[in-house]
Amino acid sequence: MTNHTMTIEPHGGQLINRQLEGSEREQLIAEAKEFPSITLNPWSLSDLELIAIGGFSPLTGFMNQADYKEVVENLHLSNGLVWSIPITLPVTEAQADALTIGSRVALYGEDDQLYGVLDLEEKYTYDKEQEAKLVYGTTDDAHPGVKKVYEKGNVYLAGPIHLVERPKHDEFVDFHLDPVETRQLFQDLGWKTVVGFQTRNPVHRAHEYIQKAALESVDGLLLNPLVGETKSDDIPASVRMESYQVILKNYYPEDRARLVIYPAAMRYAGPREAILHATVRKNYGCTHFIVGRDHAGVGDYYGTYEAQELIGQYEDELGIRILKFEHAFYCTTCENMATAKTCPHDASAHLHLSGTKVREKLKKGESLPKEFSRPEVAEVLIKGMQEH
Ligand code: ADX
Repeated sequence: MTNHTMTIEPHGGQLINRQLEGSEREQLIAEAKEFPSITLNPWSLSDLELIAIGGFSPLTGFMNQADYKEVVENLHLSNGLVWSIPITLPVTEAQADALTIGSRVALYGEDDQLYGVLDLEEKYTYDKEQEAKLVYGTTDDAHPGVKKVYEKGNVYLAGPIHLVERPKHDEFVDFHLDPVETRQLFQDLGWKTVVGFQTRNPVHRAHEYIQKAALESVDGLLLNPLVGETKSDDIPASVRMESYQVILKNYYPEDRARLVIYPAAMRYAGPREAILHATVRKNYGCTHFIVGRDHAGVGDYYGTYEAQELIGQYEDELGIRILKFEHAFYCTTCENMATAKTCPHDASAHLHLSGTKVREKLKKGESLPKEFSRPEVAEVLIKGMQEH
């Protein structure tokens, strides 16, 4: 691949690829039969995949204690690069005791498939409350990300990884591109500036509004929905993916938007996760990234613009431009989408949209008004929710 026209460098300067191919891969698969093994849950498997495909560049494996500590306490890796969320491999004490530093560990999925190998360099314990407090901003176990922290094993394994098998995303095969491929795609499309959009919800009118506002000043949109583990009341990725295709087909110019999956688990870490989301999209080749209201938030744990404020402090270091949008709503007087920046009318004229509201309406079997959701999208969601 020619690199000279690339407009944005991966985080740390080099796109990581930890996928083995050909005879090297076959040899490691054969050797791994003799390695001690652990089984990864879907969350860790998605982390393994993102490290391997370069989504988490410059990480080449699961974080060691020095990086972990620096990330949790200071939002940087020990090499000085900004990084906001620890990427770690938790195991139980009993599992850790059975593994020797310097050995290799076979990494299986819950489907008994061998996915990768870890070169075990370090194992360390960590303070769960501190991780909860500093990364998620709360120690409340009602927070879905914090709950995961408390449920994890007490020891983190660290070291470089090798991927021998890609986790399957069979349902989304047409939208399954790696960072190296999205970078090529943007080049082929002639997009010099690309805005990345993270979402774990169907695209509602507020999402569409901020995406299109961004599209007025950049060449293309990467609609990059997270399809890894989410909390159980979020709308399933398969239903969302169908809704994204429908909205793109009906309401977006074909040559200005692309749909690609982001195969990560959702942390709901609000401000810290906004930084991770931006970092990963930089690796996918985006030059810009949207952060709207309560990005990656859940419940009332974060202030509406807390993610924007935190990421604002790191924007220069991150090297990706952050496009911040105020809370967008439908104004019945303007008969348009708007924000407080563009609409003079009273709150009584404003219809507020959110993924939570969409989910509530769908659950009650209520229809989605067109001010909320495009009718084609509503149709897919209603049908999808009946089937799930
Ligand atoms: S997230 O957890 O993936 O951030 P969601 O899919 O709801 O949740 O949001 C995707 C992006 O759209 C985020 O940047 C979020 O801040 C933004 N967003 C969602 N709803 C609105 C809204 N009504 N106004 C402005 N921005 C919004």
